[in-house]
Amino acid sequence: MPSACCVCKRVYDMERRFIRLGIDYGTSTSKLVFRDPKAQDGEKAYVILREGAFRIPSSVAYTGQELIFGSSPEQHTDLGKVAWFQSVKMRVAEEVTGKYGRFCYGPWPNVSDGPSANELAVLSVWFLIGEAEKAVCHHLGFPKEMVSLSVTLGIPMKFFENEMLRKEFLRIARLARRLHEKCGLLVDGRLGLATARELIRQCSELPDEMSVPDGDLRNLIRPESEAAMCPTVKSPAVAEGPYAEVDIGAGTSHATFFSILPAFRHQRWLKDRLCFYGTRSEAVGMDAVDAALAARNHIPHEQSLLLRGHERAEIDKIGTAAIEQILQRIRENYVLAWRPAAPKLSWAERDRFRNHEVFLVGGGSLVPAIARVLVTHPDGYDHELRLRSLGVPSDLSRTDGRSIAREDMPFLAVAYGLTYYAAEIPETFTPDQVPPAPRPRKPRLDWEEM
Ligand SMILES: Nc1ncnc2c1ncn2[C@@H]1O[C@H](COP(=O)(O)OP(=O)(O)OP(=O)(O)O)[C@@H](O)[C@H]1O
Ligand SMILES: [Mg+2]
Repeated sequence: MPSACCVCKRVYDMERRFIRLGIDYGTSTSKLVFRDPKAQDGEKAYVILREGAFRIPSSVAYTGQELIFGSSPEQHTDLGKVAWFQSVKMRVAEEVTGKYGRFCYGPWPNVSDGPSANELAVLSVWFLIGEAEKAVCHHLGFPKEMVSLSVTLGIPMKFFENEMLRKEFLRIARLARRLHEKCGLLVDGRLGLATARELIRQCSELPDEMSVPDGDLRNLIRPESEAAMCPTVKSPAVAEGPYAEVDIGAGTSHATFFSILPAFRHQRWLKDRLCFYGTRSEAVGMDAVDAALAARNHIPHEQSLLLRGHERAEIDKIGTAAIEQILQRIRENYVLAWRPAAPKLSWAERDRFRNHEVFLVGGGSLVPAIARVLVTHPDGYDHELRLRSLGVPSDLSRTDGRSIAREDMPFLAVAYGLTYYAAEIPETFTPDQVPPAPRPRKPRLDWEEM
């Protein structure tokens, strides 16, 4: 065993490592990726595993005294009789906006003086930061004193655009960070509710959002869809041109229309900027599919989320009739994202958008019935659009050294994109920054006018 002063000397000789952590705090599961700019063979990003899996359940178990993070009712049946709090992220939106029933489909246990969604979200993000720090230190062989983590939390674009929700999630991100700094790791992912409340109270005195400049804001919280596009824009396999991106997660569907625009540099056209023309998210996703499938199969509503991950097999068995309404809402969200996009395009751009390609991400992208409603252009042309899945970025691997399977990318794209600094993402124009295209009164000249 090395002596204490040996260890001190090793720490002293070490150069502090600055690591960027992306947290995709999902409605069903969270995904963590960290970026190490000083990795041995050059900059690398790594997917963090917990209990051998990269999908870390976002549900929280409550024993009556203690909260248990990172477990799920399907995988942790040994926990016995506990109350399960699920889809916490969407419940926060309900609590903040007061629009109950608008964001969530799963059950929420009725526990007297139980935790609020807000408390659970803060504690969950704290738990995730701690798990990530543990994994980073283990991977690098560094003590935690020599690792500096900067953390970006992804949130749905719909939340980012809503001032109340943006502020709330910013508060959650910063409070979780402060809890981690002050209290360190959650041992075994467990914490008494009374202690948790006391720690939250002590750490709550944060300056408000006004003091966070825009660049810093995007480094603390960033829209998931913006992050998910990073592997696309950076991939050499994706050319400049018109695209749509649709993310079907557990709680939300998000659709966006954008172009990757080139710039003429070094005597050639290079991919340069992202221009978003129209974007829309709706609180309808795989949890809604699960609720509909459960109703069709006479499964009690409180057990509907047990269908998570089994939707494809279930739909193959019983057909799509039970989820027809949900499919329509996912399609409608896609069409409604196109509506504000179309007037922003010039005639030539609009023509190119007749054949845009569609990138699918999120767990719903693995369900063919869902992918099918997105192959028809929002304007209803006869031809089918090309659906594309994301390739695995060359700098991404798992902490256990195994390579990433392509079918895992729909789940990992957001967390991977969050590992970039806001300033490293290609310049982005949001729909509000893109004015409508000027239209000539006549699109073409008549022969007589020439
Ligand atoms: N093979 C699979 N493994 C896991 N989940 C799957 C699989 N196939 C489909 N799913 C569905 O995908 C959902 C998870 O997708 P994803 O991880 O994109 O959602 P999320 O990030 O938790 O939610 P959101 O983005 O709405 O917050 C699960 O709830 C499940 O319904
Ligand atoms: Mg997601």
